[in-house]
Amino acid sequence: MCGIVGYVGPRQAQDVVVEGLRRLEYRGYDSAGVALVVPDADGAGPGGRIAEAKKAGKLANLEKHVADAPLPPSHTGIGHTRWATHGAPNDVNAHPHLGHERRVALVHNGIIENFAELRSRLEADDHVLVSETDTEVVAHLVELQVQSGVDLTTAMQRVCQVLEGAFTLVAIDGQDPDRVVAARRNSPLVVGVGEGENFLGSDVAAFIEHTREALELGQDQVVSITRDGVEITDFHGEPAEAQAYHVDWDLSAAEKDGHDWFMRKEIFEQPRAVADSLLGRRSQSGLLQLDEMRLSDDEIRDIDKIIIIACGTSFYAGMVAKYAIEHWTRIPVEVELASEFRYRDPILDYSTLVVAISQSGETADTLQAIRHARTQRSKVLAICNTNGSTIPRESDAVIYTHAGPEIGVASTKGFLTQLVACYLLALYVAQVKGTRYGDEVDEVMAQLEAIPEQIETVLAGAQQIYDLAAEHVDTRSVLFLGRHAGYPVALEGALKLKELAYIHAEGFAAGELKHGPIALVEPGLPILCVVPPRGRDQLHEKMISGIQEVRARGARTICLAEEGDTKIEPYADVLIRLPRVPVLLQPLVATVPLQLFACELATVMGHDVDQPRNLAKSVTVE
Ligand code: F6R
Repeated sequence: MCGIVGYVGPRQAQDVVVEGLRRLEYRGYDSAGVALVVPDADGAGPGGRIAEAKKAGKLANLEKHVADAPLPPSHTGIGHTRWATHGAPNDVNAHPHLGHERRVALVHNGIIENFAELRSRLEADDHVLVSETDTEVVAHLVELQVQSGVDLTTAMQRVCQVLEGAFTLVAIDGQDPDRVVAARRNSPLVVGVGEGENFLGSDVAAFIEHTREALELGQDQVVSITRDGVEITDFHGEPAEAQAYHVDWDLSAAEKDGHDWFMRKEIFEQPRAVADSLLGRRSQSGLLQLDEMRLSDDEIRDIDKIIIIACGTSFYAGMVAKYAIEHWTRIPVEVELASEFRYRDPILDYSTLVVAISQSGETADTLQAIRHARTQRSKVLAICNTNGSTIPRESDAVIYTHAGPEIGVASTKGFLTQLVACYLLALYVAQVKGTRYGDEVDEVMAQLEAIPEQIETVLAGAQQIYDLAAEHVDTRSVLFLGRHAGYPVALEGALKLKELAYIHAEGFAAGELKHGPIALVEPGLPILCVVPPRGRDQLHEKMISGIQEVRARGARTICLAEEGDTKIEPYADVLIRLPRVPVLLQPLVATVPLQLFACELATVMGHDVDQPRNLAKSVTVE
């Protein structure tokens, strides 16, 4: 989830590119860089070279750097603002990356799944790769192609054929001064069509002040832009077409991809975020591999207890993880609020694995809990969305989620990708330990890989949820019920509503209702019920009994139930259909309508959804 820009035209490319990056900085701010084609002094021939500048940290660092040491004039350039995935957020890993001979410069958004294999081949041929990124490999490969005599467009097409994963790539060739070439697969890219100039961007915000005419590239397409032309092909060089459209959003809507809130945009990004978090997790033999996980198989085999520590939404991800880890690995799991953890003198030793879940990687309570666990000789594994943040740095091991920056204060895609990481961890430990459920790895991975499309189905039904939210604009209290993995979903639904709509909302385990909370039920009270999928166990039937109990007391039941579940129909005042998924994975689809509900209710109530009162995105104080 990075921001990329390309430009060719009469203006100074550095200015246009840096300005575009400023508009895209919300997509990532770990580092920024720009590369330009500088033609030979006489400008007559194809000769020229690449000039580049890049700096870790926010774009302001790069701006200061190029103000102090300006790059030469140029009319062709590319730029990048990074959300780190492979490699720490430092100057060397910043994009653009250059080829071996510094003839090609390239920027990338996405993840190249087979980069390790490609890198080994290049290194065997004496290529020196200076960064830890997956991107630099592609710069070398494209350059090898142009050195062999083909043009940059053909080079890009050929290289894309060997890449696996998700990518938007944008490249320039020092010997081809008036051309920028880009390609995309599973990652966004738009062309801004100007007069005598053309632009590329991750989204239209990159060039909206220059042109409002855009082309949205399709899957597996390559585009070559010059001052007067835009040529689009597929990866095999066959002509292809992109969808043309006119942008009528203002700039702030453009940054939000046309949505009113970053939160809503992030909810709609979840299919991509989940897919990205699953990318590159299997070796060629089909075994699960967790690259950044710095725990050896022996250390994993020694684990006899897992303690999960986290706060807020991340804590609820931990609750789901408990069900998955215990089921697949048979290792006992405790889930603890990070803020409580070290004050109860927890029993820890070297065979306890502490899993710290944090989207931001900076939450003070979680950090203190990690420090405490490490003083007790426990190994700590972080699940984190922010490369290079404090929590993964202070942990023994890490699994990064690939949600991209989450700007809305309320966590959405952060939560779903944390769930993915927890499932991956559970399956990986099962695989290493060889538990009987280790055999399920293939099956569950296939089910996980189907989830992005299933989330799309849920999102396609957003209007039903919006209408429902509008009906509840005067509601002052909402309950949420769930069982098993649906219980943390109920808690998460309630938290979203509290923090965004500022109303009383509580989540309960449905079986616990009759032990007290049912006293809250009164006629008309809306209760959102996360109905477990039908299965061999009694979960589904038990949930229906709970729903009957509250309905008998006048509650308005809003039931989230899987397609084909007809038994629920008589007990649901409102029925929201979910795709059919196994019970352990159901949180990945069932959470989405609850996020949409909270986002929309807060919107119709007139609240600031992205920055709810009294809250902060990273809670760096205890
Ligand atoms: C709620 C929310 C918070 C965070 C919590 C932990 O929508 O976002 O509850 O989940 O503050 O934050 P991280 O995961 O960054 O440690």
